[in-house]
Amino acid sequence: MTKFGEDWKRGFRDLILEAGKKALEDSNLHGAEIDGLFAGTMAPGPLIGQEHAGALLADWMGLNPIASTRVEAACASGGVALRQGFMAVASGLHDCVVEGGVEKMTDVSGPDVVSALGGAGDQEWELFPGATFPAIYALAARRHMLDYGTTEEQMASVAVKNHLNGSKNKYAQFQSPITIETVMKSKMVASPLKVFDCSPVTDGAAALVLMPLDKARAHTDTPIEIAASAQASDTLALHDRKSLTELNATKVAAKKAYEMAKVGAKDIDIAEVHDCFTIAEVMAIEDLGFFKKGQGGPASEKGQTALNADISVNTSGGLKACGHPVGATGIKQAVEVTWQLRGQANGRQVDGAEIGLTHNVGGSGATAVVHIMKRVN
Ligand SMILES: CC(C)(COP(=O)(O)OP(=O)(O)OC[C@H]1O[C@@H](n2cnc3c(N)ncnc32)[C@H](O)[C@@H]1OP(=O)(O)O)[C@@H](O)C(=O)NCCC(=O)NCCS
Repeated sequence: MTKFGEDWKRGFRDLILEAGKKALEDSNLHGAEIDGLFAGTMAPGPLIGQEHAGALLADWMGLNPIASTRVEAACASGGVALRQGFMAVASGLHDCVVEGGVEKMTDVSGPDVVSALGGAGDQEWELFPGATFPAIYALAARRHMLDYGTTEEQMASVAVKNHLNGSKNKYAQFQSPITIETVMKSKMVASPLKVFDCSPVTDGAAALVLMPLDKARAHTDTPIEIAASAQASDTLALHDRKSLTELNATKVAAKKAYEMAKVGAKDIDIAEVHDCFTIAEVMAIEDLGFFKKGQGGPASEKGQTALNADISVNTSGGLKACGHPVGATGIKQAVEVTWQLRGQANGRQVDGAEIGLTHNVGGSGATAVVHIMKRVN
C-alpha cells in the first residue's frame, strides 16, 4: 500500500502504480503471469474527472491486454473487488489476478467531496434534503445511545484506540496518539459525532495478488488463504430499515462467511472493521458477533478491542486513523490482515494471529462484504 494521507505530489495513477508494483515484488511475480485485474474505486468521475478506470489502470501498470475491470460499490468497492477476484480465481477462469483499490480525494474542495460521497446514499430521500454521511451515522449513534445507553465517551474510546494503533503504522494518515479529551473537545460535525469520531478524506492505494494456493506456494513461503468471501445488500436509505442500530447486510454476510470458513466469531484473532465513524465500529463489533448487541460501547471503553486484547480490532488504525481513501479501503484491510497473519506488522503485531476477518461497508450499510483469511501452516 501507499502511505495514506493528503498527497499533493502524486495522482490517481501514480498511487495505484506504486501499490501494484509493491504487490508484484512481494509476490515475486512478472507481469506476463497476470491474467486479470480488478480495481475498486468509488468516484474517480466526480473526484478527478476520470472514468473508465479499469482500462486506465491496466494501461498505466503496463498490463495490457489483460482483462481489467473497475468495481464500484461505494466505500465497499475494494472489498467487492477482492470478492470478484476471489471468485474469478476460485472458478478457474483466471490463474493470477491483481487486486487494486485506489481513490484520490483531496484534489477537489470539501463540499465537492461531500457531494461525491453522498452518491453512496439515497440521493432523493437523504442527500437532496441535506443529509451528509456524518449526519446519517449520527442518527444511528443517537438511536444506539437511546436504546443501549451508549455514551459519547465510549464512542470516543474507539477513536483513541484506533489512533494509538495508527501511531504504530508508518502507512497511516494520522500517527499521533490522542486522548478522550481530544475527541470530546473536537469540532462538532453532526451531533453527537465530532471531527475525531469521523474518518478523514484521504488519498491512497493498496494492492495484492490472488492465485490458487498450490501456485501461490511457488511464489512465497507465507501464502495467506482466503477461507471465506461473503457479501449482502440492504436498502439504500436508512429510513427503510427495521433498525437504525445494526447493519443487517453485515450480519448476513458475516453468518455466510463463518459458515464458509467453518469458524465462529470467537475464533477470529484480528479484525479490520469498517469504522467510517466511531459508532460504525461499535455496531460492527456487535453485528459481527464479537460482542452482544448493546455491548459494543462498554467493550470498547474497557479496552477489549485493543491490540492483543479479547479481539484485536483495526490494528492498522482503521479508517479513522489509517485513513479512508474510499475505493482502496477494502484492499487495505486485506493487506493489513496479511501482514498480521505473516507476523510482519512491525510495532503493532498481534501475538500468534492465525485467523483474520475484514469487514467493508458501502454507504450506510446497503452493501457489506466480509472476508475471512487464514495463515497457511
Ligand atoms: C470530518 C470532516 C468533515 C473534517 O473536514 P474539515 O473540517 O474540512 O477538515 P479539514 O480538512 O479542514 O482539516 C482540518 C484539520 O483537521 C484534521 N482532520 C480532518 N479530518 C479529520 C478526522 N476525520 N480526524 C482527525 N483529524 C482530522 C486535518 O488533518 C486538519 O489538521 P491540521 O489543521 O493539523 O492540518 C471530514 O474529514 C469528513 O467529511 N469526514 C467524513 C468522510 C466520509 O464521510 N467518508 C465516507 C464515510 S461512509
